[in-house]
Amino acid sequence: MAVEFPAEAPANCPLCPRLVAFREASAVKEPDWFNGAVASFGDEAAALLVIGLAPGLTGANRTGRPFTGDWAGDLLYATLGKFGFCEGQYDKRIDDGLSLQGAMITNAVRCVPPQNKPVGAEINQCRPFLKARIAALPNLKVMLCLGKISHDSTVRTLGLKLKDHPFGHGTQYNIGGVTLLSSYHCSRYNTNTKRLTVAMFEEVFAVARELTDA
Ligand code: URA
Repeated sequence: MAVEFPAEAPANCPLCPRLVAFREASAVKEPDWFNGAVASFGDEAAALLVIGLAPGLTGANRTGRPFTGDWAGDLLYATLGKFGFCEGQYDKRIDDGLSLQGAMITNAVRCVPPQNKPVGAEINQCRPFLKARIAALPNLKVMLCLGKISHDSTVRTLGLKLKDHPFGHGTQYNIGGVTLLSSYHCSRYNTNTKRLTVAMFEEVFAVARELTDA
């Protein structure tokens, strides 16, 4: 019998042995950190689903909220705020009172991977949660994938072929009325090397805003 997956993995998800070991080693070093599978954050009525890669070690893995407490989150939450998807101020901690309006943030992989690099088997193992997350959003209009791993996993989640839906910065595909939009990941590396500038990121969010308002 097929196992039904919920939209959120339990914090102590046992499915990926390497990620469990990494999480547990982190918990030994930093017992006050979250150190678990990080749940999606945002509005259940979201028209925009931002799909990141995986929790950062000292960001979401520490705080327990996607993109909260690291460099990537500073840019992501500032941009969400600029385009009207936030209420309240982002302050790098889960009790900052921030809420998302019409948006939700999730990750393709819910547990922190070593070196920020999940392996294929882990991405595949976590995909049913992403599938269930997408399916549970009745008002969804835009899936905004941050980076190629997120994009490719989302294409596979939707049962589509990668060769027909290649990743690129700013690519858009209409999937049965929902737009699959992608951007370079807003990581420190990509912004430091100028692969992704603030202007480029904001251009993608301007598209997301327009599509969600339509
Ligand atoms: N934090 C997340 O939650 N996801 C990312 O992709 C990067 C940082």
